[in-house]
Amino acid sequence: MSLSLLVPTPTASTVYPRVLPERPMRAVLLGCGTVGGGVLDGLRNGFPGDVTVEAVLVSRHRRGRAPGRFFTEADSVFATGPRLVIDCLPDGELAERLLELALQSGADIVSANKAVIARRPDFAARARERGQILRYSAAVGGELPVLETISRIRGEGRAILSVAGVVNGTSNFVLDRLAEGASLDTAIRAAQALGFAESDPSADLEGRDAAAKLTLIARAAFGADPDCVSLEAIDAETQERVREAAACGYRLRQVATLKAGANGIEASIALTPRAPGDPLGDVRDEENAVRISCERGDTILLTGRGAGRDATAHSVLSDIGAVIEARCGQRFGQ
Ligand code: HSE
Repeated sequence: MSLSLLVPTPTASTVYPRVLPERPMRAVLLGCGTVGGGVLDGLRNGFPGDVTVEAVLVSRHRRGRAPGRFFTEADSVFATGPRLVIDCLPDGELAERLLELALQSGADIVSANKAVIARRPDFAARARERGQILRYSAAVGGELPVLETISRIRGEGRAILSVAGVVNGTSNFVLDRLAEGASLDTAIRAAQALGFAESDPSADLEGRDAAAKLTLIARAAFGADPDCVSLEAIDAETQERVREAAACGYRLRQVATLKAGANGIEASIALTPRAPGDPLGDVRDEENAVRISCERGDTILLTGRGAGRDATAHSVLSDIGAVIEARCGQRFGQ
């Protein structure tokens, strides 16, 4: 997938009134790190939607950035009166507070912030009640349209029975490096250098990042959160398990599973050996793979880049395109 192919995925979601016909759509960007930087580049270089970035929230000023456009104070960013808030901040109190502010401002919101959206289900509910668009495709699966696919399946009236996948690129990348003989520290540093890992990589390694994604998948697939998600961490012991799996021709993977049953929604993140030919075992480096099992035995498999600047920015840009299409009626290449 490339940043130039920005066709919003059609979903069976709500049709929003075009209450904001003014074009270009005035947007602000919260965060200009790995993902935010990719989004800004994408918006400046060939993005087909009619949108202007009025202000960017950054953690510190840097030479070369246009004064009057980059701010370290959120108040200055919101003072520009955005109709669209694009959230590319890392998880944390700041992101949660600013998403709250964005909701109160009445703006539409595109967020890549799985942890905040997962622990604040009220954000989506409030946005729906107030007629604001809140999209967060980038929060799950990088460039894979996981949430859109689930929404489409449900829109067709088909029930989803279970979902299984590798949904954390960093852990997959680290397990591949361990299989090559690298140390855990070296593997983590490499994932950080490539922009795959969270600002706190323990969220990736302990399975908390995958658990947040699984919560968003459960919400989309079953309309409810799992009661709890059991976690298994990648740690100092994992190298030995990687070796044992490799001795049998298998690959150790951080696998996320979700199933609705009589006892509610069961969810887990576990390290499991996967055989060659198994799509969840065959994903390499930062790739993700998600298998959605539907009633009547249908299975849908999605694979692609699950982490990193371009993959995540692509998904954010697709969501921005969808907001512009919903609000302004501008269509993209369909
Ligand atoms: N840290 C996340 C991952 C980034 O490695 O999958 C993409 O959500």
